[in-house]
Amino acid sequence: MQTMISEIAAHDGETVTLKGWLYNARSGGKIRFLLLRDGTGTIQCVASRADVGEETFELIDTLTQESSIVVTGVARADKRAPGGFELDVKHLELIGRADEYPISLKEHGTAFLMENRHLWVRSRRQVAILRLRHEIIRAIRDFFDNRGFTLYDTPIFTPSACEGTSTLFETEYFGEKAYLAQSGQLYAESGAMALGKVYCFGPTFRAEKSKTRRHLIEFWMVEPEVAYLDLEGDMELAEDFISYIIERVLENRQEELKTIERDTAPLEKIKKPFPRITYTECVDIIKKAGHPIEWGDDFGGDEETVVSSQFDAPVMVHRFPAEIKAFYMKSDPEDERLALGFDMLAPEGKGEIIGGGQREDDYDTLVKKIKAHNLPLEAFNWYLDLRKYGTVPHAGFGLGLERTVGWICGLPHVRETIPFPRMLHRMKP
Ligand code: 4AD
Ligand code: MG
Repeated sequence: MQTMISEIAAHDGETVTLKGWLYNARSGGKIRFLLLRDGTGTIQCVASRADVGEETFELIDTLTQESSIVVTGVARADKRAPGGFELDVKHLELIGRADEYPISLKEHGTAFLMENRHLWVRSRRQVAILRLRHEIIRAIRDFFDNRGFTLYDTPIFTPSACEGTSTLFETEYFGEKAYLAQSGQLYAESGAMALGKVYCFGPTFRAEKSKTRRHLIEFWMVEPEVAYLDLEGDMELAEDFISYIIERVLENRQEELKTIERDTAPLEKIKKPFPRITYTECVDIIKKAGHPIEWGDDFGGDEETVVSSQFDAPVMVHRFPAEIKAFYMKSDPEDERLALGFDMLAPEGKGEIIGGGQREDDYDTLVKKIKAHNLPLEAFNWYLDLRKYGTVPHAGFGLGLERTVGWICGLPHVRETIPFPRMLHRMKP
């Protein structure tokens, strides 16, 4: 039977079989130290000629990094060992000898690592990040599932744009033009009218021509949508949501956070309520920081960083100029120039992780907005139906998974937050 390295503590003094890959090997006179990894952890295995026999001992000296091996031995507690345990090897079997492994234990440049992403994911740091990503995904699902939301899967092939035409990926669908989904929101709105509270969670696509540390071409987005919810309620939902994710990660993934040397103090500080400031107040903050900006300009990464670094908690910026926001946003009845939308900016200068708001629920106004954005009305007939047949105020938001993982892990770039990042000029492997 196979024991996982993460469960070794339950087997002190017992004979166990570990199955994994050789991470590193070292010779110390008459014994050999093998660092074995199995995806759940690493453990030092100690082999002596007397214990394993002549033949195996010689085999050990020929083992290459990343060779797959099955090791049987006695688990022994050792305070000095990184995981608190070592294995005294009794038997070792070579499963697959590895060719000379391109990723050695020394430092490599990012371009090289990206080219070898399929192997790079084996490294201890990447494994920890991927586990953190997994925990965040589970927290996302649990949060909505526990609050009565229904998962509502939205399509990837779509006939129209959701987030503006400049970042659309066009493709062909049996002779018709189709676009890869930039967001599931418009479809999720139909779900809210059917089920009350829904969320979609899947890959989304944007032909972003800018090369930044925050943009991917393919990224995962979770989008809740709720009937009878307004902007205030939407911001409260977003705040509860982020607090829950942080709590879960801190509760369950201390070890991974330690592996990637994440200082968790900034995460522990995060407490509700999060600050809420208007776009107009933000413009003042940005001006005071010495950045040129005029009311009506959109924020770029630099502006977001200026604002978010003023706060310890994520900050919610609401009521942007309607001009710079998507067609579906409801205008503020108190000032028609403003949209009832918000962005949540992560702390530590990380920028926007959430975008959302209240949707335009009036049929005629929505028609005007679609036209004003030069979008083809026919493509939105089904969407307009939602305003024809029992329209209600409703709201939702979208959280970018990779940016959230990047922030929580304290990574400078989103490329390490997903197994195979799709970026401008990089689609391989
Ligand atoms: O602000 P965005 O464009 O909002 C929407 O798509 C809405 N339809 C969501 C909704 O209300 N249901 O995108 C939402 C989030 C951003 O805050 C960001 O975290 C992430 O998606 N995002 C990206 N992440 C990585 N790479 C990109 N190119 C991204 N574009 C957006
Ligand atoms: Mg946005």
